[in-house]
Amino acid sequence: MEQDLARVIVTPEQIRARVGELGAQISKEYAGKNLLMICILKGAFIFMSDLVRKLDIPVETDFMAVTSYGTSTESSGVVRILMDLERSIEGRHIMVVEDVVDTGLTLKYIIDNLKARGPASVKVATFLDKPSRRRVQVEPDYNGYVVPDEFLVGYGLDFSEKYRNLPYVAVLKQEVYS
Ligand code: PRP
Repeated sequence: MEQDLARVIVTPEQIRARVGELGAQISKEYAGKNLLMICILKGAFIFMSDLVRKLDIPVETDFMAVTSYGTSTESSGVVRILMDLERSIEGRHIMVVEDVVDTGLTLKYIIDNLKARGPASVKVATFLDKPSRRRVQVEPDYNGYVVPDEFLVGYGLDFSEKYRNLPYVAVLKQEVYS
């Protein structure tokens, strides 16, 4: 697998440190609020599992799987819910957990969809943010790292369903995906 990678851009040590900081910040800001964290599958499953273990407040979890129509590298903004939340979010303080916000189209759809269900508040935590790619205005409230516009894999991010298990974030060599 390593031969497919051009370079590592977020190391396991950086991930551990930053997730710890985010966990501390979220724990402070959501003390007494009975937070519900919503993992957007599949990419966010690793960040979500690390992040919830860094929270020292009561937290509930739920999961939503979405797919975006489009090419393997560009989402279209048309999103289909493959698996919906188990429970109602009405009146709840919720946090959407993503691995990466790129064009923002997926996140915008998810936020609009969830807001229509009457939660008390909606915030977003993403591990990676690629603001240079944004096509709609959405800003994560909690962000691990701002990253450049490159093909990234690892820590949940895939190419053709592979590389999600890498314990770091790396740039995929162009020859692998083109
Ligand atoms: C990725 C990622 C976000 C979305 C970001 O999911 O997890 O949900 O793309 O892209 P956008 O900001 O341009 O909409 P993907 O559709 O690749 O599915 P996956 O999480 O199952 O890998």
